[in-house]
Amino acid sequence: MYYSEEIVEEVRMRNDIVDVVSGYVKLQKKGSSYWGLCPFHNEKSPSFSVSDTRQMYHCFGCGAGGNVFTFLMKYENYSFPEAVRALAERAGVALPEPEYSEEARRRENRRARLLEVCKEAATYFYFMLRSPQGTTGLQYLKKRELTDETMKKFGLGYAGKNGAQLVEYLRKKGFEDQLIKEAGLANFSERHGLLSQFWNRVMFPIQDINHRVIGFGGRVMGEGEPKYLNSPETPIFDKRRNLYGLNFARRAGSGNLILCEGYMDVIAMHQAGFTQAVASLGTAFTSEQASLLRRYTDNVLLAYDSDGAGVKAALRGIGILREAGLTARVIDMRPYKDPDEFMKNLGKEAFGERIAKAENSFFFEIRIMEAGYDMEDPESKTRFHREIARKLCEFKEEVERENYLQAVAEKYHIGTEQLRRLVLSAAVATGGAEPARRPRTTASRKSSPEEGAKKSQRLLITWITDEPSLYEKIKGYITPEDFTEELYRKVAEKLFLDLEKGELRPAGIISMFEEENDQREAAALFNTSLPKLETKQEKEKAFHDIVFSVKKNSYEYYTARLGADMTALNQVIAGKKALEELAKTHISLD
Ligand code: CTP
Ligand code: MN
Repeated sequence: MYYSEEIVEEVRMRNDIVDVVSGYVKLQKKGSSYWGLCPFHNEKSPSFSVSDTRQMYHCFGCGAGGNVFTFLMKYENYSFPEAVRALAERAGVALPEPEYSEEARRRENRRARLLEVCKEAATYFYFMLRSPQGTTGLQYLKKRELTDETMKKFGLGYAGKNGAQLVEYLRKKGFEDQLIKEAGLANFSERHGLLSQFWNRVMFPIQDINHRVIGFGGRVMGEGEPKYLNSPETPIFDKRRNLYGLNFARRAGSGNLILCEGYMDVIAMHQAGFTQAVASLGTAFTSEQASLLRRYTDNVLLAYDSDGAGVKAALRGIGILREAGLTARVIDMRPYKDPDEFMKNLGKEAFGERIAKAENSFFFEIRIMEAGYDMEDPESKTRFHREIARKLCEFKEEVERENYLQAVAEKYHIGTEQLRRLVLSAAVATGGAEPARRPRTTASRKSSPEEGAKKSQRLLITWITDEPSLYEKIKGYITPEDFTEELYRKVAEKLFLDLEKGELRPAGIISMFEEENDQREAAALFNTSLPKLETKQEKEKAFHDIVFSVKKNSYEYYTARLGADMTALNQVIAGKKALEELAKTHISLD
């Protein structure tokens, strides 16, 4: 643990989870919880709940869950200590110097050092651009009509004439070769030692949503291959989960975000006042990036290149955005290639008009499809109409499907009745008007005995947390050792200790774990769905069954370890006795 348990707990209690999460997700009070669209997976109706009383969140859709720290770790991509620091600052809690464990220090240091070396490299590039050595770079960017202010905002820079310069600079600043390499800033070569691949290029630092430099793109000035050279993926640079410009765009407040293809497009658009522009990182747009966008808007505009490759990328992007539950519209850049070129020729007002006139993604898809058919040929035309019908089947909601059907029928002069019939036969052919649902991957895992045992343990913890008075009734039978999963046992130990003191703070227990995955698993212990039972007898039976099954599993678990484990014998003897007693005991839920 980096900070003492007390201080972590103080920070947690001073940051109400509903308040914190509300800063990111629109929440609505329903019953005893607050509900919203889960920011961690794609959904259209809210299954993300935040509990005021428990100070925890839980998504019934994807299983995400945890306390206020987990939320920030996941949302802002923070490590545990980073989350503690952010929330301490938010609540005005002064933090002492952290207490590092050896391993924790190493891990945390590595990340921090990688961020540091990237920041230092960005500083180097930045000053290089403004030095006599950077004249060509500066001229290039000026020729591309970027203002000083824009260059400053995006921290643009220039990589020196050769790849040894940056390495020398970073070494002088105290960074080891291994770290420089791990940050993706240089590579070892047999003949020249450590050399940066970035030289004689204008440099675009890539920042995460918290403005921290995590990688670079470098462009040749003029012609040359490759046009852009990008940092490789590193422990801090995940190309699937970051977007260029999002650190600014998330605060644009324009009600939409514009997704474009390149760094230069983003920069040109921000300079023109469209500060909601973002781009992927030299790689194809991903569903993770769609989820990222969905945290800030449900309305995305595509400003991809108007050439063949751009159209293809747009069609792909539309699919991903739709899957993520986002509305996509396509900005028509013709006759120009990209936003940068468009605005240079027609100005930003004209671009603003194109934004306003952006085409609904469905009509865009149909229009592109149309080009592949010959409308003069009845056969080809029919196939086109069938294709439209197939696409209409992708709308799950009937009202939506019907609205689109009428609109598209009118636009392409097809009889609505006729089109409806085509939709019907397309639906029959594809097995329904809905796209095929993905098979549920969890179903197969569920039935294993091990899963069953874990489930009982989770149920017991959730139940006790819901009705703390039950603890007194089971403590004679159940001890933390009965939780055979290590993480479960740690949670039970803490929970029972708290209950002995008459306290109940499940959200605090979660902060015992530093890894986000562990926190999620710990949170799940408090969020298992209890059986919905009507009568008291049913409930008492269910509860008894759970207690019995936890004990029985533990008995079997330790029996299998007899001889190998010193504590096993005690557990087995005590377990046998408890099981016999439990068998004839009635646990009342009153
Ligand atoms: N890209 C890349 N490597 C290349 C070419 C392109 O990583 N060899 C990525 C970059 O992220 C680039 C984006 O794809 O920003 C779009 O490419 P392109 O349209 O060619 O570049 P622009 O951003 O438009 O840059 P410019 O205006 O300078 O040509
Ligand atoms: Mn381009």
